[in-house]
Amino acid sequence: MCGIFGYIGTQQALPLLVEGLRRLEYRGYDSTGVAIHGENDVAVHKTVGKVADLQAILPGQVEGTMGIAHTRWATHGGVTQVNTHPHHAHDGNIHLVHNGIIENFRSLRQHLEQQNIECISETDSEVLVQMMALERAQGATPLEAVQRTLKRVRGTWGLCIMFRDENMLICARNGSPLIIGQGEGEMFVSSDPHPLTSHTQRVVYLDDGDVAVVSRSSITMHSGQGRPSQPNVTVLEEEWGESELGDAPHFMLKEIYEQPDALRQCIAGRIDREMGSGRLGGMRLRHDTLVQTPHVRLLGCGTAYYAAEIGQMLIEKMARIPAVTHISSEFRNNDPVINPKALYLAVSQSGETADTIAAVKEIKLKGGQIFGVVNVVGSTIARLCGQGVYIHSGPEQSVASTKAFTNMVAALAVFATQLGRTRHLSKEQGRELIDQLQQAPHLMETYFEDTGPLSEAVDLLAEAKSVLYLGRGLSASVAKEGALKLMELAYIPCLAYPAGEMKHGPIALLEEGSPVVVVAPNDHLKEKTLSALHECKARGAKIILIHEKGDSIASEGDVSIAVPSIHPWLTPLLTVVPLQLLAYETALRLGRDVDRPRNLAKSVTVE
Ligand code: M6R
Repeated sequence: MCGIFGYIGTQQALPLLVEGLRRLEYRGYDSTGVAIHGENDVAVHKTVGKVADLQAILPGQVEGTMGIAHTRWATHGGVTQVNTHPHHAHDGNIHLVHNGIIENFRSLRQHLEQQNIECISETDSEVLVQMMALERAQGATPLEAVQRTLKRVRGTWGLCIMFRDENMLICARNGSPLIIGQGEGEMFVSSDPHPLTSHTQRVVYLDDGDVAVVSRSSITMHSGQGRPSQPNVTVLEEEWGESELGDAPHFMLKEIYEQPDALRQCIAGRIDREMGSGRLGGMRLRHDTLVQTPHVRLLGCGTAYYAAEIGQMLIEKMARIPAVTHISSEFRNNDPVINPKALYLAVSQSGETADTIAAVKEIKLKGGQIFGVVNVVGSTIARLCGQGVYIHSGPEQSVASTKAFTNMVAALAVFATQLGRTRHLSKEQGRELIDQLQQAPHLMETYFEDTGPLSEAVDLLAEAKSVLYLGRGLSASVAKEGALKLMELAYIPCLAYPAGEMKHGPIALLEEGSPVVVVAPNDHLKEKTLSALHECKARGAKIILIHEKGDSIASEGDVSIAVPSIHPWLTPLLTVVPLQLLAYETALRLGRDVDRPRNLAKSVTVE
């Protein structure tokens, strides 16, 4: 979704801002703009479209060593140039970029109109800059103008504000992430850690309620009622992996093929083969907590939710205690009953998903023990939980999540093993699982050596009106993840069902030639899945079958794709990979924008 980048220092700001915007592109956006503070004026350039479109309209040189920039994902008001950030005050003295949503912007707009100030855009964000200008006109300092305005605002914000007569930026956060990167005589502001990594490792994460005054050489925090304070500077943990595309045609393909290494990073140092157990230090789990926990609840959205479903089943299989998965937005809106002895896991790649953040806050408020299962180090969910497990996938830039899914599953499998060993899982069973988990990266690589007849499957999918995905048990969640991938990338309506449920409704959709993707690894449910497969075939469906190598059921598919065999509880780590590739290849065949599918954003930071 929206992205912010800001700079104050001694270098020319424009190239740094454009590069920052480029690194924010993966979040998904529809328009982009910059404002550069020159010697006598502020130059603003903005456009609908991509950063490349912005670059095309920029003049040869724009002098200035301070500036702010934004990628906008439209919420309030259409995708137009005037709605694009940065927004400016009616007197031209303040410019601002905003991530988040201002809930009471209508009443604030009315208030401005009563003061004869007309907003020129349809956005909720513009009211903020106009309100600040009003405060300035009444004698407030820049900081007071920001603070007084924010007191009147309801909603969420990550803000970077630039004043024409001041050599400083003011940043503020409430519910939308903002990070300040500290350089030598220069400062960077970003809503996302990626654009900072090439400039500095020293960062300040703003917390909700923080307001920071940022000059070239200092950051001063003005939070709550207290005195100004020095910020808490931390070191940005280096993430493994490159966030650059390199030779790959798309981030999605690059990230699919990074899965073996990502998986190695995820499990390294986290398993105790001798004890046949997991060892997740960041969870800070006490033995008595593990032994006494009555149940586990997992939360997530989209891909994270499907990974959590698999985690839930693994916890029940290994630890024999009840586990339930919830869609974050549903969970927190239903006044959940929180058991302080239960363990709650918030699963999220970005760590910035608004619905999951709200669920975490609800659980904390009611005294629950919540742990993050998160990729982005230092993200809001990771910091809110304060305990948990980083999945260490490295930067995931494609909107479609791939390597984060397999690492979420792996991290949850390690957690389930650890929990299981305090209960019903024997040392031998634990060791077997751990051995197989360690094998999984190599097995993925083996699959990549021969990915099977993908293009034949794409022939069926690309022409389809809709696609049905079926699986049972762990594979039902894999089917859902495969369907989500094809739907979001190729824009083909997809339905995923536990195979046994197919005859209770979705079977009505089948007609001659309808493609059905069946996920049927060699587990105890395979035979039952095959019954559903036969019911589909009998109605003329064309079957794309994902099965284990060497299994005689290969002949059941019209197109059959084999993955290497693994422990039945770990099959999602392998069966999901061809589904990711199918979605990628089908989207390519249909000429879709694979890395940035329409309407979607990488981090869904609004509710
Ligand atoms: O960052 P998160 O894992 O919390 O994101 C959750 C979903 O928004 C995300 O998985 C989404 O469904 C992806 N586009 C799936 O590919």
